[in-house]
Amino acid sequence: MRSHYCGQLNASHIGQEVELSGWTHRRRDHGGVIFIDLRDREGLVQLVYDPDLPDVFSIAEQVRNEFVLRVRGRVRARPEGTVNPDLPTGEVEVLGLELEILNPSDTPPFQLDEHENVSEEVRLRYRYVDLRRPEMIKNMRLRAAITRSLRGYLDDKGFLDIETPMLTKATPEGARDYLVPSRTHPGKFFALPQSPQLFKQLLMMSGMDRYYQIVRCFRDEDLRADRQPEFTQLDIETSFLNEDQLTGLMEEMIRQTFREVLGDELSDPFPRMTYAEAVRRFGSDRPDLRCPLELVDVGDLMADVEFKVFSSPARDPDGRVAALNVPGGCNLTRREIDGYTKFVGIYGAKGLAYIKVNEAGKGRDGLQSPILKFLPDEAVTEILARTAAADGDLIFFGADKADVVNEALGALRVKLGEDLGLMKPGWWPLWVVDFPMFGWDAQENRWTALHHPFTAPREDHLNLLESDPGSCESRAYDLVLNGTELGGGSIRIHRNEVQQQVFGLLGIGQEEARQKFGFLLDALRYGCPPHGGIAFGLDRLVMLMAGAESIREVMAFPKTQTAACLLTSAPSEANPAQLRELSIRVRKPQVEE
Ligand code: AMO
Ligand code: AMP
Repeated sequence: MRSHYCGQLNASHIGQEVELSGWTHRRRDHGGVIFIDLRDREGLVQLVYDPDLPDVFSIAEQVRNEFVLRVRGRVRARPEGTVNPDLPTGEVEVLGLELEILNPSDTPPFQLDEHENVSEEVRLRYRYVDLRRPEMIKNMRLRAAITRSLRGYLDDKGFLDIETPMLTKATPEGARDYLVPSRTHPGKFFALPQSPQLFKQLLMMSGMDRYYQIVRCFRDEDLRADRQPEFTQLDIETSFLNEDQLTGLMEEMIRQTFREVLGDELSDPFPRMTYAEAVRRFGSDRPDLRCPLELVDVGDLMADVEFKVFSSPARDPDGRVAALNVPGGCNLTRREIDGYTKFVGIYGAKGLAYIKVNEAGKGRDGLQSPILKFLPDEAVTEILARTAAADGDLIFFGADKADVVNEALGALRVKLGEDLGLMKPGWWPLWVVDFPMFGWDAQENRWTALHHPFTAPREDHLNLLESDPGSCESRAYDLVLNGTELGGGSIRIHRNEVQQQVFGLLGIGQEEARQKFGFLLDALRYGCPPHGGIAFGLDRLVMLMAGAESIREVMAFPKTQTAACLLTSAPSEANPAQLRELSIRVRKPQVEE
């Protein structure tokens, strides 16, 4: 039904007869002549219908937006003055000789080129219409190009693409499981994989040596712009490589994909930064290196000041007092500062003290601050020195538990970077390494795994597992790009006794370990090679490469913030017969009046 795609026509086709199929983007009636912009995956071309051909013309009169058409016509040059340089097909138009309406359309829920005024709800409900937009088609194409490039690299390096089960046992990655009831085993459930973690480790124990998979993962967790309940990982595992060899391969892959798909060169090698340094300088384990602002510790200057807001966290071993110098920040208005104070409040900060450095040379008189009166001269001088604040700068302060200060000032530095136009252009990848094995969960009063329970501790830290788990570092690594955690992985535990010890530390008793991970513990006893791997968030990678704001923009059929699909109205109720078959009775939560 077509000889060309609409978007492919250009001056070289002038004089040719072509057959096109596509959607009506717009129809315009220009006093006797009808123009139709016909659209397909590749773009738009203008059709012209002349009353000289009354049969065809009368069909053209019936055409409305989003009608599906088949067209035969002759390509001709647009008349002088009507060339559209913004359109790839803008030099030509197609004089319509035949026209068939393959299918009419109801008035579309929104006009494709006016989607900006359309709520995301409407876009998601009519996703099949939304996906007709050139921006969305571009994102889908980009996604396909990226997966092709990644596969190409991995295939060349001897990785085998192997599938792992979707109906399986829970894999802990820190989220809730999506459960699937079993009909044949009443009262029992499969879990959808949060990741193929255990299966890929088993594949290494099987001797597959190098595995990859582009695989769907399921996590029932709180959603954000870069999180979805079902998302795609590029999942990778290798045997007999150490962390330098593995991360070396992976960054070569990422560099190749950026080069092939975008023509962009990334740094070689990617810089590496320890977790401790990242948190100290940027308040985050996924620092956005585009932003030049950095946190500076000033707690040691504050232990004895009269301002309790500063002195108590300064004395608290879990506290932190940090400063963030903002070049030119003196220009911030009271209102803007109030706005930032509110912003850090989202992260639990109780305030946002500041010093405006009007004229550093004048000493205290050159400064302006609600907290200046609490600070002795030596502290003020030292703060100015450490933050390298210059005239016209403003220094913000965070004081609280270290976690709160890090989150609040970490987010603030990126926000300020964006608001004040300080973000450097380009790609800023880095590996974050030397993560702690465990974090202390004060509420539950126990250790939790910072990555997952299969991550190996550093060989020279094995003894710390017993004596000081909090200081034990792991062999994990995260790849961060422009402030987004693109991927994370580790060298794994490959010895049964170490795995048991780590389970024990995480409060997973022997019986529970047997019940949940017995198959893994068994496998570790039958010849397990040293192995390690990584998983990349494919949606996040595509989002970054597309310059999109959310991973929803690069997924064909994403879910909403409440993990629902507006298009199909999933999740929905199951019918009683189905539930009976599954031995399930539904007890809805009581709704309070
Ligand atoms: P992790 O849990 O860090 O590691 O996940 C790897 C990467 O997957 C992406 N990601 C997500 N993307 C979208 N929506 C989500 N809800 C979501 N959750 C995670 C992130 C993240 O970096 N099995 C380990 C990997 C390993 O150790 O090899 C794992 O799943 O980009
Ligand atoms: P207050 O004494 O509460 O009026 O606070 C004086 C200044 O300190 C104000 O600018 C507050 O925003 C700021 N402030 C209060 N609590 C904190 C905190 N935990 N961290 C940083 N600044 C704070």
